[in-house]
Amino acid sequence: MRVFGKPYRTIWPSEKDNATIHIIDQRHLPHRFVVEELRTVSEVCTAIREMHVRGAGLIGATAGFGMHLAALAAPEHDFAGFMRKAADDLVRTRPTASNLAWAVKRQLEAITQETTLAAQRAKAFAVACEIADEDAEFCRRIGEHGKGIIAELSRRKNGGVVNILTHCNAGWLAFVDYGSATAPIYAAHAEGIKVHVWVDETRPWLQGAKLTAWELKEEGVAHTLIADNTGGHLMQHGMVDMVIVGTDRTTRCGDVANKIGTYLKALAAHDNGVPFYVALPSSTFDWGIRDGLSEIPIEQRSGEEITHIRGLNEAAEMTTIAIAPPATPCANYGFDVTPARLITGLISERGVMQASEGDILRLYPEQK
Ligand code: MRU
Repeated sequence: MRVFGKPYRTIWPSEKDNATIHIIDQRHLPHRFVVEELRTVSEVCTAIREMHVRGAGLIGATAGFGMHLAALAAPEHDFAGFMRKAADDLVRTRPTASNLAWAVKRQLEAITQETTLAAQRAKAFAVACEIADEDAEFCRRIGEHGKGIIAELSRRKNGGVVNILTHCNAGWLAFVDYGSATAPIYAAHAEGIKVHVWVDETRPWLQGAKLTAWELKEEGVAHTLIADNTGGHLMQHGMVDMVIVGTDRTTRCGDVANKIGTYLKALAAHDNGVPFYVALPSSTFDWGIRDGLSEIPIEQRSGEEITHIRGLNEAAEMTTIAIAPPATPCANYGFDVTPARLITGLISERGVMQASEGDILRLYPEQK
């Protein structure tokens, strides 16, 4: 998508040298646009753990390139051992999004099929590019499938503005391009359907305020930033036509783990008859689990993300300030689980389905 009018992806290999991978360091947005270069798997682990990159699809794509960088560094006499350790290090960086382990497993399976060091390295790079390209293409297709839902709401409002609420950032910055939740919005906007997005700020990391608001602005999509607690009020007053969010892990029965606070939005949507959609590429399904509440690991992060806040000061310098009493005990759960019964539909690269095992398997029969 566009940054200052120029098309970008969130991750790309250097044109000169595939030993350098470029990422947009999202910790600086929206105030600075910083491109970081990664050259080792350890730098990739840091970038994922410390959220220079974040979002399910992008974490997966970054891990794919991490395995490529590991393959470049792996010694011939212990290639398999080196790659296994790199895989373990990458998978440990963040526990909730399934795309991370999925990408690492895809790399290991592909590399194992090759027998020479040169072929293993070539395969690791090809697979990393494939994962990134596929992520972008799947998100583009999510946009095509989801656009129909927005078009129908617009038709029912006689072409009036469709108000969509989203939580966190399941935008292009959370993937390689287009985004999951934002893809239908961008596709509808490109077709001239009038949309307006309510952007939850998304405490404590503020992905909504920092990232979603920024990317919607860059794309010229009308939006309004709201405090996290506002959505229920807007829904009670008929000011939300639909909710679209992303997901970090989805069970085969349709339970969804997404950024903390998503569950409360789903409850409010259910109580007010507002359709609640979840958009995801199939890499976000965890086909091995059925029950989101008991089986999805929920990441807990440092309490400092709650007690402190980072932004520009009056001199336009990035600064961190404390907002809670020193040493306040904190609990910082990164995600919550929205049960399938609260979800109107899932939108994937293969189409729109109900959040139920039967309907998910209708579109993914190979997972039966
Ligand atoms: O902690 P993050 O920023 O990596 O969390 C991921 C998210 O941005 C959200 O949960 C998002 O809605 C789904 S990921 C596409």
